[in-house]
Amino acid sequence: MSFLSATLSRVKPSPTIAVSNKAAEMRAAGADVIGLGAGEPDFDTPAHIRAAGINAIETGKTRYTAVDGIAELKSAICAKFKRDNGLDYTPAQVTVSSGGKQVLYNALMATLNPGDEVVIPAPYWVSYPDMVLLAGGTPVAVECGIDVGFKLTPEALEAAITPKTKWLIFNSPSNPTGAGYTRSELKGLTDVLMRHPHVWVMTDDMYEHLVYDDFTFCTPAEVEPGLYPRTLTTNGVSKAYCMTGWRIGYAAGPVELIAAMRKVQSQSTSNPCSISQWAAVEALNGPHDFIAENNAAFVRRRDLVVEMLNKAEGLTCPVPDGAFYVYPSIAGCIGKTTPKGTLIDTDETFATALLEETGVAVVFGAAFGVSPNFRVSYATADDTLREACTRIQTFCASLS
Ligand SMILES: Cc1ncc(COP(=O)(O)O)c(C=O)c1O
Repeated sequence: MSFLSATLSRVKPSPTIAVSNKAAEMRAAGADVIGLGAGEPDFDTPAHIRAAGINAIETGKTRYTAVDGIAELKSAICAKFKRDNGLDYTPAQVTVSSGGKQVLYNALMATLNPGDEVVIPAPYWVSYPDMVLLAGGTPVAVECGIDVGFKLTPEALEAAITPKTKWLIFNSPSNPTGAGYTRSELKGLTDVLMRHPHVWVMTDDMYEHLVYDDFTFCTPAEVEPGLYPRTLTTNGVSKAYCMTGWRIGYAAGPVELIAAMRKVQSQSTSNPCSISQWAAVEALNGPHDFIAENNAAFVRRRDLVVEMLNKAEGLTCPVPDGAFYVYPSIAGCIGKTTPKGTLIDTDETFATALLEETGVAVVFGAAFGVSPNFRVSYATADDTLREACTRIQTFCASLS
């Protein structure tokens, strides 16, 4: 019998981290590798937020805090929900964790029993199904293809719900597609949920502030106040505030659920880093103008990547509403062969050949539950993106 737990055997390591590791290994061996796999902004944490972290160190804010966050951060989070989403939450309805990932993990650990189903629209962020499995639940992926803009339709949601459904995990704008739900699209989904009172919503609003053109972000409890008592609204400072390494995520929801999540955290990691919490207070309460500046760069890069990838033979790349990802289809490349003789039969073989033959690291679509596609993170310098897309174009043109 294996020394490792049976639970662990059900989950796989994060494929996005695996791609980054492989690219790093090739780079260390001297290869000219461009990594488009990592899901984080290339901008530094803004100076005023860094200063708040330094100040926390200098003023001795370096001890244990309350398990689920300092009062100052909870009140900044309540103010954020009111300001940005029109949602009223009290500090007792708020919890802070070491990143958005831990928030979601705590919620699933706190609520799932064997047999409980969690509806997850695909393409999904790679961690959702594995976190559900780790918590003993059953992920129910609902495929939402390029034909429906990679978005869950009310009909598909209705069909996926069973008496065992406990949660719908909702993510807009989405990792990996950047697709965002309009208010009326979201209302179509919340109308379905109103007919199924046993289903709760876990909304992952991590990319709320990274939206472009005239897209307006909205979140389930705001669109359908009737869902407020069974919605966990999760968010974090990682992406919009360029704070991925600081590890602060947060959520708001019903007091009993928040207390249960606190219990999980109290017996695992305890409080998130005290210094990061003070930096997050400044992030949420301080100036936000840098977000518009960063977004201008993201839009420019998105447009560059979409245009160049659509010119690559066999690729189709929709224009996303937000986040910093594109999710092109490689349907036109399937069945072709690379100059080195590799048959492109899946998006995984495409991504592997692209990395090995051109040095461009992307994440294959099967990791996100919808194929044949790949994910590009365009949170990197324009020149790097131009070079990477040129290599992708050359690679696609070389297939026969
Ligand atoms: C959709 C989504 N949710 C949550 C997270 C986790 O964020 P954090 O780094 O705060 O744990 C990510 C990070 O990639 C993400 O893309």
